[in-house]
Amino acid sequence: MKILVTGAAGYIGSVCTEVLLGREHSVVALDDLSEGHREAVDSRAQFYKADLHDAEALNQIFGANQIDAVMHFAALCLVEESVKKPGEYYRANVGAGINLLAAMLRHGVKKLIFSSTAATYGEPEKIPIPEEHSTEPINPYGASKLLFERVLQEFKENSGIEYVTMRYFNAAGASAERGEDHSPETHILPILFEVALGQREAFQIYGTDYPTADGTCVRDYVHVIDISEAHALAVERISEMAGRVYNVGNSRGFSVREVVDTVRSVTGRDIPVRVDPRRAGDPAVLVASSERIRKELGWSPRYSDLKSIIQTAWTWKEKFPKGYKSAG
Ligand code: UFG
Repeated sequence: MKILVTGAAGYIGSVCTEVLLGREHSVVALDDLSEGHREAVDSRAQFYKADLHDAEALNQIFGANQIDAVMHFAALCLVEESVKKPGEYYRANVGAGINLLAAMLRHGVKKLIFSSTAATYGEPEKIPIPEEHSTEPINPYGASKLLFERVLQEFKENSGIEYVTMRYFNAAGASAERGEDHSPETHILPILFEVALGQREAFQIYGTDYPTADGTCVRDYVHVIDISEAHALAVERISEMAGRVYNVGNSRGFSVREVVDTVRSVTGRDIPVRVDPRRAGDPAVLVASSERIRKELGWSPRYSDLKSIIQTAWTWKEKFPKGYKSAG
């Protein structure tokens, strides 16, 4: 298939582009480079720098390429930032997505895989979380993603869009050439590596008073290559699966302290920690039930233990200690 990947210069979009190319798909890569890295885009993909709010640019891209399906990764995705800037989150995560759908329909493209999030569930009542769990997001990031899930449902009914929604838990890990590099960095693993490399003094644990075994937040870390493979499986069977929602997670939770200890063991480095207050918008525990995706798409994670996930991310970070800046 010829697949348009939005957010193709970002962390998950760039690895997914690589995985799709490895499965003999061709990729048209789109990114506005507001946060992504041009160097992250696989050279086998055809790259366009464009903003999803720019209808004319989208017309040109769809007009010049016979796109079969779209994978929509482009988004703002930081929980705490979303609490401070809700308008920007709705504009980027809902408004831009509606422009993308409009462009797809103008050009007769009806297949879409949507990157949603575990943040749509809010503070879960049941762990592991099944897809039919209630969705009551506790931050604008999760709310904006949930709203776009609803938009897709309506476009399916009214315009025949065939979509699959993927609710990721915590993406982690790297391929040999592509990894996690945000600026400013807010995610747990890259920050821990910066401490391990002496680029930061200490790791701040955000809250030790959560109702969990050691008081720190518990998350389900899933390898970015496994997330990418889930996308490939879904797009290859999209007509059959249209309208389905899938959790993408390992179904195992690790506390922040457990992650810190695993990073110490993988890197062999000292990691000083400091306890800080809770960060706004963080739920205590997010762990996926992954039964549905295993059963319906035949997905199973290649990287199911935290240590091997962290090892791939550390290998990348050692190769690119300053992220993509080290690639130039
Ligand atoms: N954390 C710290 N200190 C830090 C950074 C993070 O204690 O310096 C903690 C957080 O409080 C959280 C955990 O580590 O409990 C993971 O935090 P991340 O920022 O790495 O990831 P989030 O859980 O906030 O969010 C990520 C994605 C979201 C997605 C969510 C789903 O960024 O897009 O996972 O679980 F919605």
